[in-house]
This record gives sequence, C-alpha cells and structure tokens, in this order.
Amino acid sequence: MSYLDRFGLEGKVALVSGGGGAIGSAIAGALAAAGARVVVADVTEERAQAAAEAIRATGADVLGLGADVTQEADCERIVAATVERFGRLDIIVNAVGGGAGKVLFDAQEYPRDAWDWIMELNVRSTLLATQAAVREMIREGHGGAVVNISSVRADLGINAGYSAYVAAKGAISSLTRQWATEWAKHGIRVNAIRPTFVDTPQVAMLLGDPAFKAGIVSRIPLGRVGDTDDMTGPVVFLASDAAAFITGQVLGVDGGLTATQ
Ligand SMILES: NC(=O)c1ccc[n+]([C@@H]2O[C@H](COP(=O)([O-])OP(=O)(O)OC[C@H]3O[C@@H](n4cnc5c(N)ncnc54)[C@H](O)[C@@H]3O)[C@@H](O)[C@H]2O)c1
Repeated sequence: MSYLDRFGLEGKVALVSGGGGAIGSAIAGALAAAGARVVVADVTEERAQAAAEAIRATGADVLGLGADVTQEADCERIVAATVERFGRLDIIVNAVGGGAGKVLFDAQEYPRDAWDWIMELNVRSTLLATQAAVREMIREGHGGAVVNISSVRADLGINAGYSAYVAAKGAISSLTRQWATEWAKHGIRVNAIRPTFVDTPQVAMLLGDPAFKAGIVSRIPLGRVGDTDDMTGPVVFLASDAAAFITGQVLGVDGGLTATQ
C-alpha cells in the first residue's frame, strides 16, 4: 500500500444523502473518483438519478435512489438497498439541508412553521439518515465514517434573519461531537465541514445582491465565496483512512473567514 492510498476510498461504499443537490452531487462524484462505490439518495429522484448517471459516465459503480430522509422508513430502505447492491456500508455524507435564504425573519418574530421546517430539513434529515447508516455499520462491525455539513453559521451570527438556520447548524456541529464520542468504540469517526457561502442555487438570490455579496467577500481573507469543488477534498479526506485519528471535528472550509473573527 502506497502512502497516498490512505487518501483513497478503494473498497469502500459511501451513501450520500442529498446527493442530487449542488454540494451533494459534487461530493458524490469526488467519493467515486477517490475509488468508492457510491449511493446517491435524494428526495427528488430525478436529481438522484441525474447525479448517479453523471458518475456512471466516469466508469464508477453507483446507485441512484429516491428517498425522503426525514422519514425513518426511507432511511432504512436506502441503507438496505446499499447493502443489497454493494454488500456493505462504510461512509455516510449528509448533504441534505439549507433553506435559510427562503425563510428570513426578524428573530423576535421568527415563525414556528418556518422554524420547524428548517429543523426538519437540516437536523432531522441528518439524524435519521445517520442513525440508519450507523446501525448498519455497527452490525457489520468494521467501523466507518460519518461526514456532516454544518456551516459557519453554527458559530457566527449574521444580521439577516437566520435564527432557525444558525440553531440547526449549531445542532449539527454539536451532534458531530456527541456522535464522535459515542461511536468511537465502534470505530466510527464523525466529522463535519463548516462552509461559508458556497456558490449554489440555494444562495443565488442572496449572492445576487451585489452589496450583500461584496460584504461577505470583504470578510473572507481568500477574497471569494466557496464553490462546490472546494467542499469535495475536505469531505473525501475526512472519509478516508488518512483521517484515521480525526473524529469530532468541524472543519472550517471558509476561505479563512472564521480566522478573522
Ligand atoms: N450553499 C451554501 O452556501 C451552503 C453553505 C454552508 C452550508 N451549506 C449546506 O450544505 C448542504 C447542501 O447545500 P446545497 O447548497 O447543496 O443545497 P441543495 O438544495 O442544492 O441540495 C440539497 C439536496 O437535498 C435534497 N433534499 C431536501 N430534502 C430532502 C429530504 N427530506 N430527503 C432527501 N433529500 C432531500 C434536495 O432535493 C437537494 O437535492 C446543506 O446542509 C446546506 O445547509 C450550504
């Protein structure tokens, strides 16, 4: 085994929840390029199939599935389908989430339905998909890796009506540390990335406002927002054996933004 093999995912099977999305599909492609067999699950089945098709076109082995990961039965089903197709499960990446830009309200008026929706989309989706995947990893007994997507908003306020989103991402960062602590005994590592704004359709409206974008970019030392490719290397690394002694970490992928705070 060469030193660089530790950074690869040969022989591993990865499930990407939300793998049809902007960041999820880039991550799914990167996991496959690193050698993993990949399952792409998304509530919008066409997105899952499109992402799977793009990966298949590179010669990789991939399965696309429609699933609503806020539903326990769907989480069980995609894990079972993964094992049926590929025989094991080593990695889950939780890339379902977001929604912040759609429900911006003053903190003192933040409506409960918007709050519940953001918590479901971000926290419940991550919780249920991870529970199903980790039960399978524990059953298989070979350890594994969980990679969550938090946000700099877990740690930084923003004067833009983000109450529910900051709470949801705070929960994702906390659960990353909690799960790492509980599941280390099973050889399961749990980490997260914590991006600043990533140029994706979800935040296109916000970033389309030149004054808002200039304000964000002026605070990022590397002088730009992220792109989806910026997310892939950190996730592949955290999922790989090169990160074998890293667990419970929430890695800033933010162009240096939080270094300045
Ligand atoms: N875009 C950014 O600026 C940014 C910044 C920091 C963190 N993030 C986080 O990155 C993650 C991905 O964001 P994105 O920009 O790629 O969003 P996206 O909307 O492009 O992708 C999310 C995907 O999840 C799917 N999905 C939604 N609900 C689902 C459900 N119940 N079951 C299964 N699939 C479901 C959607 O169909 C979509 O394909 C989110 O957690 C988001 O909060 C994004």
